[in-house]
Parts: sequence; structure tokens; C-alpha cells
Amino acid sequence: MGLPALTLLLVARLLHTQHCPLLQASPPVRSFQLDYEEDCFRKDGAPFRYISGSIHYARVPRPAWRDRLLKMYMSGLSAVQVYIPWNYHEPLPGVYDFAGDRDVEAFLDLTAELGLLVILRPGPYICAEWEMGGLPAWLLWKPDIILRSSDPAYLAAVDSWLHVLLPKIKPRLYQHGGNIISVQVENEYGSYYACDYGYLRHLLGSFRALLGSEVLLFTTDGTRAEELRCGTLQGLYATVDFGPGSNVTEAFGAQRQVEPKGPLVNSEYYTGWLDYWGEAHASTSSVRVAQGLEDMLQLGASINMYMFHGGTNFAYWSGADFKDQYKPVTTSYDYDAPLSEAGDPTEKLFAIRTVISKFQPLPVGPMPPATPKYAYGWVALRKVSACPKGYAVPYADLLDVLDVLCPSGPIQSQFPLTFEAIKQIHGFVLYRTQLPRDVLDPATLGAPPHSICDRGYVMLQKVRLWGHSHPTALHVTGSTGDTLDVLLENMGRISFGANISDFKGLLGNLSLDSSPLRNWLIYPLAIDTAVQQGWPHAALPKLSSGDRAGPAFYTGTFETPGIAWDTFVKFPGWSKGQLWINGFNLGRYWPLRGPQQTLFVPGSVLHIGRPNNITVLELEGAPSTPLLLFLDRPLFNRTLSHSTAATE
Ligand SMILES: *[C@@H]1O[C@H](CO)[C@@H](O)[C@H](O)[C@H]1NC(C)=O
Ligand SMILES: *[C@@H]1O[C@H](CO)[C@@H](O)[C@H](O)[C@H]1NC(C)=O
Ligand SMILES: *[C@@H]1O[C@H](CO)[C@@H](O)[C@H](O)[C@H]1NC(C)=O
Ligand SMILES: *[C@@H]1O[C@H](CO)[C@@H](O)[C@H](O)[C@H]1NC(C)=O
Ligand SMILES: *[C@@H]1O[C@H](CO)[C@@H](O)[C@H](O)[C@H]1NC(C)=O
Repeated sequence: MGLPALTLLLVARLLHTQHCPLLQASPPVRSFQLDYEEDCFRKDGAPFRYISGSIHYARVPRPAWRDRLLKMYMSGLSAVQVYIPWNYHEPLPGVYDFAGDRDVEAFLDLTAELGLLVILRPGPYICAEWEMGGLPAWLLWKPDIILRSSDPAYLAAVDSWLHVLLPKIKPRLYQHGGNIISVQVENEYGSYYACDYGYLRHLLGSFRALLGSEVLLFTTDGTRAEELRCGTLQGLYATVDFGPGSNVTEAFGAQRQVEPKGPLVNSEYYTGWLDYWGEAHASTSSVRVAQGLEDMLQLGASINMYMFHGGTNFAYWSGADFKDQYKPVTTSYDYDAPLSEAGDPTEKLFAIRTVISKFQPLPVGPMPPATPKYAYGWVALRKVSACPKGYAVPYADLLDVLDVLCPSGPIQSQFPLTFEAIKQIHGFVLYRTQLPRDVLDPATLGAPPHSICDRGYVMLQKVRLWGHSHPTALHVTGSTGDTLDVLLENMGRISFGANISDFKGLLGNLSLDSSPLRNWLIYPLAIDTAVQQGWPHAALPKLSSGDRAGPAFYTGTFETPGIAWDTFVKFPGWSKGQLWINGFNLGRYWPLRGPQQTLFVPGSVLHIGRPNNITVLELEGAPSTPLLLFLDRPLFNRTLSHSTAATE
């Protein structure tokens, strides 16, 4: 962006006056403040700048939290930046979950124990490439709700959540003896179309009412003037986000346009980038990341590195973007970050640590080593014994176990209903109807554009016809009463962009030669509930009918040789689906599309001395010999072209 010459002059001057002499007057005990005179933060009255890194507890299994935080501390960071995903903690309206992996207070306790400060980002919207940017999908149960705005329905939900969350935060604020030095309000709001200052003002009021008047509240946005215009508000300190590709002088110049005085802050300095299914694996050079960091630290700026440890989008938590088309994010959130997905120090981490050591002393002691990995090798998935000729067949076709996956039975509806209309948040819904007439000449089965969200698998008389996300038309023949099934997969709601009201399922009518199909049975599938209860391992084997090639479950077990080390599972010859081990949902695999070829399996989900139960839901076709391969390293970067991948 071109700044006027006068501004640049001013910026150049401001960038070089970061001395922050000690104040004369004695400061309050435990304070964390902005100093607009000397352009810095003051911690207990002394000049302060932070070097921070992002970590998302929701992407790291709880047993690994301490290890990752310790490695961040040993890298020389003074702080960590932490998002709180609302939808991770309020799965249904008024139902809260802060247990186990969701125990954010236990995570914050660990940060304090390790001597790290915290920059907290409680949203309510966070982006983070997380399902719906952290907003609960149940907000869409009111379909005309205007998210991230002053819409009273939205504000009421936000306020109930903040009244539960922020009282847990208040005693942890720096002023109250805790380690939280600042709290972000909303996130990159200037990138959202609504530009509703009333909404930001409302949030400011709620945060102040629940956290008190002393805590430092801030916003962060991209460096474009438009973003800073809609994302900032009087009373919230404005910071910026930019990566190593940006010109540091110009980027901080943009912050100076909205905050002429005060500390320079880059709240998201990008160490790497996310991956989308079907695109190349993203990587950012360590040299450039380290150089950009050094340039910013030389200016006296406070920096947060996004991400320092990315982790994994387990289960259904990956988000998506919309740029010309729907673009789902991969299961791995490795991010090419300084600590890898599995939490191992990389060359980038050491390059960053060297830069930090030029500006502040590193903690004494060695960097903890990489956690051990193990190649458990090949594991055969269960073959049903009654199967002829030793061929592997699925444990069960999905269509044969609807009674298990949807115990309450289907919902009847004249026309299809969305996931939101039937209160299904994640995963899969099966839509079933019957052909209304004999179809002797091939008829066109069609759906309006963008009405299949995000992927549909069609079966006629339980035989798979087709499976991809952008159907134009499909030709069918059959008889009156033939069963037509469409399995709809939600691949993650849009987390960033103009419109995050991302409804899932069949959003329009499916029609046969333009005449809408009616009389649907809609099965919301509770697959995770069944798997967590031990299904199908604890159930009697079921004989699959074999060669339908429709969505099906496969099972297997393996034992570890007395260890439970981290591992990476590869899917040789498999297409696309979801993996559980011991009931833990490890996320989506899609080797046919790439770039990600392996899923991270944290050792903490494995058992020692008893079998580990594997369950695979394969949606598009398993290999004739269904084997999984457990490796001691990940494969992130085999990308097949769109045209090849689209032939599924
Ligand atoms: C960064 O931008 C400033 C102001 O536009 C310019 O003077 C400087 O040369 C740029 N630096 C680089 C490395 O491009
Ligand atoms: C967002 O999408 C929803 C559903 O498709 C639509 O009703 C709404 O008008 C869209 N809003 C904007 C601002 O594009
Ligand atoms: C489906 O078709 C029926 C009958 O034509 C129509 O009333 C209804 O609005 C359609 N639904 C959608 C989502 O387009
Ligand atoms: C694993 O499978 C066995 C049967 O093979 C079953 O008894 C056990 O409950 C299952 N455990 C888990 C954690 O799913
Ligand atoms: C994939 O990564 C490996 C090692 O990380 C590297 O050697 C290889 O060149 C990469 N391949 C592609 C296609 O980027």
C-alpha cells in the first residue's frame, strides 16, 4: 500500500524511539499497561515487549500440553497466544464442556507454572481455520441470524457464553495475580463485510463489565486501510497481522495510521501456512521467517508468531475457506511451524531461537528432544470369517447399520432438511427416498448449484452411483419404489470470509428430470457416539454384502510392543474417510486428494498390553486388501492434481 510521504516520515521517526525510560512515579503492583508517551508496554511499570507464539490447546492432546509449552518456553518465548473456540466448549445452547482435552483452565495453569505469560483470544469469533471460526453451528438453527453483528439473537448467545467464560478468566488476569497480560476482542473483524461498530462496542462493554477496567483489550487486523477501518474501535488497542512477505516498515506504518502512539505489535507473524485438500503443501523458509523476526525485534516491536505449534484438526474441527469455491482445510495443522504437528523442534525453531538470543537471554538448559516415534508397521483390518476366498470385506456397509448409527430413527420430511434444521452439528446425515415411478430411459438426477454441502455419496438399491461434491447431473434407471440414498458429509464450516453462515447437508431439492423428489427419511448419524461406546468392536460381527463399494466400516486391532509412542498412519490404496482408534476420532483422511498422506496418532490414544481397536469409515472405496501402515514419520506433501482427483 502507498502511504503519504508525511506519514512515512512520521513512521520512520516513531519506529526509532523505543527507549522507554523507567517511570519516575512508582507504578501499581502488578500492572500491565500501554505507554503512549514512550511507545511501549509497561509491566509493573518497567518497559516491556513480548516475544510470543501461538498454540491452540484444542489441537493438542492434553497429555502433550506440558511438553509443547516447555519447548516454547525453552525457545526463549516470554508469552503464548491462545484462542478459545466457543463451539468446542458449548456444544449445544447452554450445555458447557470444560472437561479433559477441553479443560482450558488446566491449560492456563500449565502456562503459569512454566513461567509463560498469556495473550488470550476468547473471540467470540476466532477464525483459526477452525470449524465455523469457533462459532457454534447451533447459531444457524435460526437461519436468518446475522453472525458477528448487533443482531439481538446473536448478541444474546454471545453474552450468555461470555458470562460463563470470562468469570473463569478474570482471576487469571495479570492485575489479579495471574499471567494473562492482554485479551483480544473479536478477530480480524475488519475482514468481515458487516463492519458493525455497534457490535464491537457491545463486545467492549461486555468484556469491560466481566473483566474489569484495568485489563488491556486489543484488536488485530490485516494491514489494509479497509481492514483497519472496520476492525478497530476507540478503547481497543489496534495491532496488525502480517507475515515474512510484508515490508515491515510499511506494515507497522499501517498500524501507526490507527495508533499513532503506543507499542508496535504484530499479533500474527506467519511462520508458515495452512494446507487445503487438493493443493500443494505450504512451506515458508526458515531463513525468511528468522530475518523478518529480527527486523521487527530491532524496531522494538512485540511479536506473536502464528503458529509456533499448530497441531491437529482432530475429529470434525477443521474449518474451510471460500475463495471462488469451497476449500476445506486438511486434518494436519502442522502449519510448517517451528514445532511440528507432533511437537518436535525443527530447524525453524532453532533459527528463531538464535534470533531471540540476540535480544533477550534464553532460559538455561537444553531444548527437550523430539518425542519418540514408532513404526508399528502393517495392520490388517478385520476380515469377516464367513467371507469366501479370504477376500477382505467391510465389517459392515453403512446402509446396513443405520439402526446402530441412528437409534432414534429417521425424521420424515416432504423435502430435504439441512443439518441445522435437524440439529446435526458435525459429520454425516443420510437422506433416503424411493423412486416415484418406473424409470426405463435414463433420467437425470440433479441438484441446484451449491446445494450439496459438502459432498454427497449416492446409492440406488444400496449400490453406489457416484460420489463427488460438485454434481451437475447423474443418470439413473430403476423401478417404482427403488431405494435412493444420499449420504451427505459436512467437511467443516467456513471459518473466514464474507459469509460464514455455512449451512450443511442437502440445501435444495434433489430432482428427477427436474421434478423434485419427495417423501424423505432423514437419518442424522451419531457415528461417534456408537464408536465411543465400543461399536463395532464390542458387537457381533456382521457380514457385509461385499462388493457394493458404498460407504462402509472396517475394523482391526494391533498391539504395541510394550510402548505407546506417537505414530503416523498411512492409507495405502484407500480413498477418503474417517479414522478412530480406541474411540478417539483422529480426523479425516483423503490420500486420493492430498497433500496429506498420513494422520498423526498421538501415543496417548494407544493402549499398552491390550489390543488397540481401529475403526475406519471408508466413503469411496477401500483397497481389495485393506491394510493400514503405521510409520515413524509423516507424509504431508503428495498432491494429486484436481483433474486426477476428480475421477473418483
Ligand atoms: C519498505 O518500504 C519502505 C517504504 O515504502 C521502503 O523505503 C523500503 O525500501 C522497503 N524495504 C524493502 C526491503 O523493500
Ligand atoms: C450468506 O449466506 C446465506 C445462506 O446461503 C444467505 O442467506 C445470506 O444472504 C448470505 N449473506 C451474505 C451477506 O452474503
Ligand atoms: C423443493 O420443492 C418444493 C416443491 O416444488 C418447493 O416448495 C420447495 O421450496 C423446494 N425446496 C427448496 C429448498 O428449494
Ligand atoms: C475393543 O474391542 C474389544 C472387542 O474386540 C472390546 O471388548 C473393547 O471394549 C473395545 N475397546 C474399545 C476402547 O473400543
Ligand atoms: C516432500 O517433502 C520431502 C521431505 O519433507 C521432500 O524431500 C520432497 O521434495 C517434497 N516433495 C514435494 C513434491 O514437495
